Amino acid sequence: GFSWKLADHPKLPKGKTLALIVLDGWGEAKPDQYNCIHVAETPTMDSLKQDAPDRWRLVKAHGTAVGLPSEDDMGNSEVGHNALGAGRIFAQGAKLVDLALASGKIFEGEGFTYIKECFENGTLHLIGLLSDGGVHSRLDQLLLLIKGAAENGGKKIRVHILTDGRDVLDGSSVGFVETLENELAKLREKGVDAQIASGGGRMYVTMDRYENDWDVVKRGWDAQVLGEAPYKFRNAVEAVKKLREELKASDQYLPPFVIIDEDGRAVGPIVDGDAVVTFNFRADRMVMIAKALEYENFDKFDRVRFPKIRYAGMLQYDGELKLPNHYLVSPPEIERTSGEYLVHNGVRTFACSETVKFGHVTFFWNGNRSGYFNPELEEYVEIPSDSGITFNVQPKMKALEIAEKAREAILSGKFDQVRVNLPNGDMVGHTGDIEATVVACKAADEAVKMILDAVEQVGGIYVVTADHGNAEDMVKRGKTGQPALDKKGNIQILTSHTLQPVPVAIGGPGLAPGVQFRKDIPIPGLANVAATVMNLHGFEAPSDYEPTLVEVVDK
Ligand code: 3PG
Ligand code: CO
Repeated sequence: GFSWKLADHPKLPKGKTLALIVLDGWGEAKPDQYNCIHVAETPTMDSLKQDAPDRWRLVKAHGTAVGLPSEDDMGNSEVGHNALGAGRIFAQGAKLVDLALASGKIFEGEGFTYIKECFENGTLHLIGLLSDGGVHSRLDQLLLLIKGAAENGGKKIRVHILTDGRDVLDGSSVGFVETLENELAKLREKGVDAQIASGGGRMYVTMDRYENDWDVVKRGWDAQVLGEAPYKFRNAVEAVKKLREELKASDQYLPPFVIIDEDGRAVGPIVDGDAVVTFNFRADRMVMIAKALEYENFDKFDRVRFPKIRYAGMLQYDGELKLPNHYLVSPPEIERTSGEYLVHNGVRTFACSETVKFGHVTFFWNGNRSGYFNPELEEYVEIPSDSGITFNVQPKMKALEIAEKAREAILSGKFDQVRVNLPNGDMVGHTGDIEATVVACKAADEAVKMILDAVEQVGGIYVVTADHGNAEDMVKRGKTGQPALDKKGNIQILTSHTLQPVPVAIGGPGLAPGVQFRKDIPIPGLANVAATVMNLHGFEAPSDYEPTLVEVVDK
């Protein structure tokens, strides 16, 4: 039968303190002026690469290696941390939704059947990120969902859009809104009352995460549910264009707006008897709105009205909380993660990041599961992020505070694994501010140094890696790799992640002699890291895990 017990590794000892560092948004790319990691002073990361070629390598962090539909899909933190923690490749939300839409099964499932009850007398509301970034949602999936809803009896449809500019180029929202408007116009010709009802930029409206700032969710609630917002427009294309031009707001930070009819009334507040679907497949930035839509008892902000609706998520966003209760597509079943195994085998674990990435090394790491496996053996520490700022104004973020906590945890002798996420490269990279991203990369490197010094002090082991690329390439590239220019001849800043591979480095005084990277796994991915880490803790990995990266040669 099944057992959590892991076999002892034949050669590697137990009991060494292991620091596991994930640099968020830290890929490997050719050195040029748009590679902020290259431009920044990063002596620690440089030395890991140069000093120990047998213990530094690259792994894939995008596409099918992390369960995404295609090799054109850039990596992201959800799939990256899932792979790092779970040690296997699971078909991820993006892929599962594609399959469910292609087969039509999505329209036969429990979630759709549940919301369909409202189609006769109520409105179907769709809330989510309007983007083809493929990180949280995809426009083509939204369009298929709308079409299918109309074919299945939906008579009145309202779309509440959140503009992106973070997983895609800033300014691309105008085109996405136009595409959506065209599709809705076609439906109207067929007699379906379909319209965009509200909108706002994803970082300012609705898509907060890990309870960093509930005001973000409240602004969305006011627009989507109550039909109230500081800006009112007759159509959404005009809304996005005007707010960008007049307020100089970027897509990510557009203020909330509602669409009004000729009498000045909001066209789509959410009321009793309506159905609501949040159409993002990715979990982290949907959990908060899901709670607001689902929980009878809720005290995070004043909802003013709590309409009696039927609500379903595109996926279930939190398996432990069963949130939401109804969903259109079943999420990947990421079970038997390395964290759960190691805790069952007595590995005392400490995990830490600041708020904006806290769930990455806990929730995502553990297979989109909140909470501890065993609170007696685990401690998760969240350092509060600065809220209400864009991180280019504080590019150091809480890197040193995170490193400080990790250092204390390592020196305390109370933990076998000390795991952190250093957010700088990613969070500052997403702002598109190149100078600030350089500062961010330096800060992350300094934090790594602090942690490695502590590892040195206790005779421990380190594993340094990243979840996907971002800061190593800040410009959109043409086919030849040259910066692609826009119509006016300007370079286009890349706020998004990349397709680049990421480094994995191992070392430390506790690393047994003769441990080096194998040469017989030509193209490993992030999922190979889990077995590697289990080995370095002195255990064999379960047989269905992706193979370890290390071998032990006689020295
Ligand atoms: C975000 O949610 O901030 C971006 O869409 C993706 O960034 P992450 O995958 O690094 O969290
Ligand atoms: Co990111």
